[in-house]
Amino acid sequence: MEKITSVRGFNDILPQETGIWQYLEQKAREIFMDFGFREIRVPILEKTDLFKRSIGDSTDIVEKEMYSFLDRGDECLTLRPEATASVVRAYIEHALYTAEPIAKLFTIGPMFRRERPQKGRYRQFHQINVEFLGLDDPRIDAEIILMLIRFLQCMELNDLKLEINSLGCHECRPQFREELTVFLRNREKGLCDDCRRRLHTNPLRVFDCKTENCKAIIDHAPRLSGYTCSACKQHFENLKQCLKNFAITYEINDKMVRGLDYYTRTTFEVVTESLGAQNAIAGGGRYDGLVKALGGPDIPGIGFAVGMERLISMMPSDSRYFIFPDLFIAALGDTAQKEAFTLCNRLRMKGVRTEMDYSGKSLKSQMKRADKLKSRYTLILGDKEIAEKRAELRNMLNGTQFSLDLSALEDNIINTIKER
Ligand code: HAM
Repeated sequence: MEKITSVRGFNDILPQETGIWQYLEQKAREIFMDFGFREIRVPILEKTDLFKRSIGDSTDIVEKEMYSFLDRGDECLTLRPEATASVVRAYIEHALYTAEPIAKLFTIGPMFRRERPQKGRYRQFHQINVEFLGLDDPRIDAEIILMLIRFLQCMELNDLKLEINSLGCHECRPQFREELTVFLRNREKGLCDDCRRRLHTNPLRVFDCKTENCKAIIDHAPRLSGYTCSACKQHFENLKQCLKNFAITYEINDKMVRGLDYYTRTTFEVVTESLGAQNAIAGGGRYDGLVKALGGPDIPGIGFAVGMERLISMMPSDSRYFIFPDLFIAALGDTAQKEAFTLCNRLRMKGVRTEMDYSGKSLKSQMKRADKLKSRYTLILGDKEIAEKRAELRNMLNGTQFSLDLSALEDNIINTIKER
């Protein structure tokens, strides 16, 4: 029979890999909660209009990359390509702003974009996503970036670079857009087909183009920083000052426009040299008009998302991500097997990570298995030992071995394992 394989760009995360995923998620939860964030869980399926209206009709994500389909009725639904839109939708739908003027939310889970798969780019990928709603104070931008940096530092990554930019606001950006359109129109022939189209729909997106010709043209294009209004300039200056106060180093990348249309003012990315083309580990920014655009009150927001696959691919492999048994029971003989089975499960019920051999193979092969599982201790339980009312406990790290009395064996094991 022909095998059915997974869908292209959709990956399994195998048991030997899940330890690092759990570590990452746990650290994120810990650190975000230190900063006062709480978890929100939102569906992975939303109405397509949500993403069209938030990410923007003329972005690559909405134009080419969404998994959208007609539900059995006639509703158009989409597997979420990102989480910000869903979080903001939930924030409005449940009027979270009525209970608290500020909402600090995070969510972790899979996102779906139908991009061309390559290293660091998948069709199902995972994000750790953070949103802060309720304040447009630049100190919040700095605080959010500080939290991201703290999280990445815990992952012991070097070679990271923080890039920031300001995209202006709905007051000052239209003028820049006009100037940029004029500049690009004069060079239209040199642009790729996509950018020629973008010129009429969303000229800022030309900054994202990866083709050499377009990149060369963009190098000489006007920059947003020349057009931002005084309020946006002040906001950016204050952010930079706050980052300096936190001793966070950054570079200004005035070509960074980010691939989603909802951004205003601050945008930022954490990039690395070591991942090749897919070099962004995390990205985010401010979206002061988004809540209103999605039918809520005029409430500002800022957030970021970390790409988990990219982050993990940079993390050194480390035994702390793996979970090893506390105890392996090597049971030799019928009576010993019966005893071992009961003991094994009683210990598990008391929180001792215990494995056993169910096959009754030779002691040598059972010890081999204990080694392979990297168990901290092995209990050797044979019919002979049972007759002598004792069992042997071996410390697998230093090879020391001692006898334990069979009466109160459970407590003896628990005490020994806890002590050492
Ligand atoms: P984004 O820049 O589209 O932002 O994605 C954030 C991160 O997700 C990227 O930096 C990258 O690490 C990862 N990522 C994106 N696409 C893929 C892919 N195809 N395969 C693997 N990893 C990928 C957002 O999604 C915004 N919602 C972030 C945000 C939150 N802005 C404000 N709040």
